[in-house]
Amino acid sequence: MPVKLIEQKNVTLKIFDDRQEGCEYVAGQIQKLITEHNRLYKSTVLGLATGNTPKGVYKKLVEYHQRQQLSFNRVVTFNLDEYYPISAYHDRSYHTYMEHNLFNKVDVHPHHTFIPDGEVPEEELATYCENYDHQINHFGGVDIQLLGVGVNGHIGFNEPGSKISSTTRRVFLDEQTRHDAAPYFGEIDQVPRQAISMGVHTILKARKIICMAWGAKKATTVKEFFEDEITVQRPVSYLHTHPNVHLVLDKEAASQLELD
Ligand code: F6R
Repeated sequence: MPVKLIEQKNVTLKIFDDRQEGCEYVAGQIQKLITEHNRLYKSTVLGLATGNTPKGVYKKLVEYHQRQQLSFNRVVTFNLDEYYPISAYHDRSYHTYMEHNLFNKVDVHPHHTFIPDGEVPEEELATYCENYDHQINHFGGVDIQLLGVGVNGHIGFNEPGSKISSTTRRVFLDEQTRHDAAPYFGEIDQVPRQAISMGVHTILKARKIICMAWGAKKATTVKEFFEDEITVQRPVSYLHTHPNVHLVLDKEAASQLELD
């Protein structure tokens, strides 16, 4: 059970004692939806994030699957982003991350997992990205979109300056984002300078958005999310325009919020 549950405008805020509880809650929401859809022979479309934030969610979903409590047979997934250029087989690619954390461990159909291709030739990028958005629509749109948030307020790799109308496209990574990724790549020079990311508009088309943040490092970003106007400088603030956003925090990430 969340420690605190607050409804604020369009945002339902849930604060848990720690990230594990938060992740278990989010995984439970996903399990419920998939199970309900499976019963109706209906597919479920998930928008997935990578990074540290959703790892515990994937762990719990794998557990459900291993205990025969969840089948991904009718699940279709679209990942938010991938570095560019990068090989799918690179240790740090988001393809590798997804295989390792979820896809290899559940019964999702390999043809139903979509991640932007970090090896698309440059001249085909625009068409490729347009097609990524078409594919999402083709499968009926995203039911639940998982999001983490960057310290600089990015969602997906929509860095400060990204427009609310942006669709899937090639983006240039912020120095802060590259800095945060440096420990995983060994050194900053190894971190790609570009990525392919779902756009803000693409993300906001999801029927439900669950944005998670854990730890003191995200506390200022979370506070700014609630205090700031909607601003191009903090793409996470665009979530205020969506009718069904759930912000799931641990106590540390919520520590700068002034709640009664
Ligand atoms: C990852 C993604 C990013 C991360 C964000 C937070 O697919 O789109 O927006 O969610 O950078 O990263 P972590 O979770 O590592 O703190």
